Amino acid sequence: MVAERILFRLLPLVALLGLALRLRSSVSPAVSHHGLQETSHFGQMVGVSGVGRSLLQDDENDKHSEDEVALLVMKLNRSSLLPLPVLSEQRCAPTKGVWCAQFHGQTPAPRYLPKYYNKPCPNNCSGVGVCHAEYGMCFCPAGYGGPDCAAPRKRPCAHMGTDKRDAGWHNLTTWSHTRCAGVCDDDIAMCYCPPDTKYGRKEAPPGSPLGSPPLQAGRPLFMCTPGTDSEGRKVEWGGTPFPDMFGPAGWCNADKPNFTCPCRLDGLHGPLCDVVSEQVCPNQCSGRGRCNQGFCACQQGWYGVDCALRREGVAAEEQGLELLTKQPWLPAVRTHIVATEDPPLTPVRRRPYVYVYDMKPEYGSDLLQYRIEGSHCVYRTFKTDNTPDWVGYNAYSTEPVLHELFLASEHRTLDPEEADFFFVPVNVGCMLDVYGWNEVPRWPKDVHGPRSHGLSLMQREAQRWLNATFPWFARRGGRDHIWFNPHDEGACYVWKDVWPGVMLSHWGRTDFPHLSHTAYGQDNYSMSLQHPEHPGDWLDHTSRTHPCFDPKKDLVIPAFKPPRHYHKSPYLGAPPPAAGRDIFAFFMGDLRMQPGRDPDCIYSRCIRQTLYNLSISNHWKEAHAIWYGERKDVAGSGEDYSELLARSTFCFVLPGDGWSPRLEDAVLHGCIPVIIMDDVQVVFESIIDVEQFSVRILQRDIPNVVDILKRIPPTTVKTMQEKLHKVWHRFRFLGLRMARAEARKLLEAHQERAGGSAPRHPGAEYSIHAQDDAFDTLMQWLYSRIPSVHSGSG
Ligand SMILES: *[C@@H]1O[C@H](CO)[C@@H](O)[C@H](O)[C@H]1NC(C)=O
Ligand SMILES: *[C@@H]1O[C@H](CO)[C@@H](O)[C@H](O)[C@H]1NC(C)=O
Ligand SMILES: *[C@@H]1O[C@H](CO)[C@@H](O)[C@H](O)[C@H]1NC(C)=O
Ligand SMILES: *[C@@H]1O[C@H](CO)[C@@H](O)[C@H](O)[C@H]1NC(C)=O
Ligand SMILES: *[C@@H]1O[C@H](CO)[C@@H](O)[C@H](O)[C@H]1NC(C)=O
Ligand SMILES: *[C@@H]1O[C@H](CO)[C@@H](O)[C@H](O)[C@H]1NC(C)=O
Ligand SMILES: *[C@@H]1O[C@H](CO)[C@@H](O)[C@H](O)[C@H]1NC(C)=O
Repeated sequence: MVAERILFRLLPLVALLGLALRLRSSVSPAVSHHGLQETSHFGQMVGVSGVGRSLLQDDENDKHSEDEVALLVMKLNRSSLLPLPVLSEQRCAPTKGVWCAQFHGQTPAPRYLPKYYNKPCPNNCSGVGVCHAEYGMCFCPAGYGGPDCAAPRKRPCAHMGTDKRDAGWHNLTTWSHTRCAGVCDDDIAMCYCPPDTKYGRKEAPPGSPLGSPPLQAGRPLFMCTPGTDSEGRKVEWGGTPFPDMFGPAGWCNADKPNFTCPCRLDGLHGPLCDVVSEQVCPNQCSGRGRCNQGFCACQQGWYGVDCALRREGVAAEEQGLELLTKQPWLPAVRTHIVATEDPPLTPVRRRPYVYVYDMKPEYGSDLLQYRIEGSHCVYRTFKTDNTPDWVGYNAYSTEPVLHELFLASEHRTLDPEEADFFFVPVNVGCMLDVYGWNEVPRWPKDVHGPRSHGLSLMQREAQRWLNATFPWFARRGGRDHIWFNPHDEGACYVWKDVWPGVMLSHWGRTDFPHLSHTAYGQDNYSMSLQHPEHPGDWLDHTSRTHPCFDPKKDLVIPAFKPPRHYHKSPYLGAPPPAAGRDIFAFFMGDLRMQPGRDPDCIYSRCIRQTLYNLSISNHWKEAHAIWYGERKDVAGSGEDYSELLARSTFCFVLPGDGWSPRLEDAVLHGCIPVIIMDDVQVVFESIIDVEQFSVRILQRDIPNVVDILKRIPPTTVKTMQEKLHKVWHRFRFLGLRMARAEARKLLEAHQERAGGSAPRHPGAEYSIHAQDDAFDTLMQWLYSRIPSVHSGSG
């Protein structure tokens, strides 16, 4: 303990010296079976002594590495990065109205100690849940419920019998994602080899304390379903021969099985699915808890969705030990939580003050725990050696990004009394991922209708819970509550009681009345639903009562894109393409034109398809250097999407089933957006003068697209490009540590490759700085909304 204590005192200094970085890269990639690193490297590296003011000031760390990068950049080419603009006129350049200048005009207030709470919880949450010291409420992991987490709260596999085994392989022929041929972990509806096999799951013996881990986890059987039974009879809902799964040489019995089942649960790797890595949790439980598939089981004295909140009277000194000694990979992904600084290290604060709710697990952590595909619901993951990585593709990843950014924000307050706004982190995007896997969860419980019903009703339940539990929802009629709606068609379906709040989405459709225009039936929010849980048709509570987007109170925000997505952008220091912007206009994306895929041409309002046919019949590529179509039409396999965008003068912004992040793609590459979707505002269009750097073409003018673009004079093109340089940074989120680190790495690489003569590209001064990024823009705009939100004047 004494040694640990000394270690702890050294940490800030280590961070200051930038050793933490080297520490991370020096640890061997070998990971023990539990995914925990030996601590010895750390001890060896620290040969200095000193006392720091507080732990985990990774802002220090940030600052330090930013200085380091600045030095490097200077060494390479003193002129390649301009200083960031400081004057409000420059920073607010192409914005609409006064929100930006107002924000900068406010007088900062001093930051006080965070507010501490100390409410007890029933039965200490039975040792499985986390006691929330502000709410006096147990937050339970999946599987446990009731006021003290002692009641079972199950998510059974499909067609599960009483013994957690399938109720009869021949008895029901229907396949389902969670139908289980082995034994079901019915906390989350995950399937494993049965206990009577060598690599089967062996639960903790009866009478063990609640939440005891299994004696043996077992090999997963998820998405591995039998095509035959033990007697060789055909099983209708599966495909894998019985011996491959359960025979002596099969997956469940052999040390070296002759057949392998998929291994996709978060934190499991390797051909035998027994290599364990860190799982993903909000802000990685701040290093003060164990991450269980998205649920943070916090250490005694700590609580909150990310274990960042300290119970009153608990000594702060304990923080961080585990983080840097046992889990040295966490600093790379953890974001520093300004609101919990004690003493305050960020001396001043600016409004808006935003309170971030911890939502009941039903609307939050459950959904993360229910994701049987590790890549669902998250924006990052950990590789076998615990290095963090982005998940390949998750359209809804702005949801976890926003949650972490709100938690970490300088604008966050721990005191709801003083809050200007309340952020409500309901995992509706995660629900979109999880919805098809199992009957549970459902809203209403007995309806398995379109996802839009489920999402809307889940939000409504969350709103009712807020209103029944806290005084804050009713205080301003819900107007100060912020909800994010990543659904393809944004907030169109939102319940009327939720709607008065601030709707954040990627879809700025303004016409009213409106009908769903998705080609994906599961998302059609215009399907009616009669249910005893609400009188009449749900449509009369939702989409018939409001537009999808109200430019006055709502905001269209960018989708999250990691820097690697725009790695060839001049704004990240990439050299301009040899031939300049030689592509006149560009679009690459899904067209759904294969026979039978979308016979009525509903997808993209038939815009993408109509343009494609025009491009073919008029030879756009040869005649006008307009590259348009799917990858096979546009680019050879080697051509890089980012590079193509950087080579283009105009880039089409067209809908998909609803939103599609094309405006972001264009702007982040300095390409002039050509927006074709009537009555739909693009990202920030209500607050930034998008007209200054884009072209909008009405759907009925699609046949004249080429003429319209050709008629734009080169001087106008140049002016638009110059505007883009001044505003591009507002269209990406750079507040995550992983994003900043990657942007730095890309910039460094570009600089190094240029051998010290990288040209100075206007706009590149923002390449590695989060100042005035998308999240800052949101905060700055929210500030301007305070008077009307608080007074109810709309
Ligand atoms: C809850 O746990 C804490 C810490 O272990 C202990 O001090 C407290 O007495 C417990 N309370 C109850 C009601 O069991
Ligand atoms: C069929 O399934 C039901 C449960 O759905 C079970 O009670 C019954 O025993 C099964 N019958 C056979 C013949 O497997
Ligand atoms: C695996 O071995 C079993 C015999 O135990 C055999 O029946 C089966 O066909 C083998 N499967 C594969 C994929 O080789
Ligand atoms: C919120 O709760 C208050 C007090 O119980 C009630 O009057 C009001 O109708 C509720 N509002 C909504 C939108 O649920
Ligand atoms: C969505 O559902 C409504 C009501 O059933 C239907 O009229 C409409 O055609 C559907 N929309 C699409 C795009 O399929
Ligand atoms: C595009 O061309 C194909 C082939 O000629 C045709 O089947 C399809 O209907 C056309 N689609 C549109 C939207 O013009
Ligand atoms: C830095 O880049 C500029 C072009 O932007 C070039 O003119 C200059 O020579 C470079 N400086 C050095 C020291 O290489």
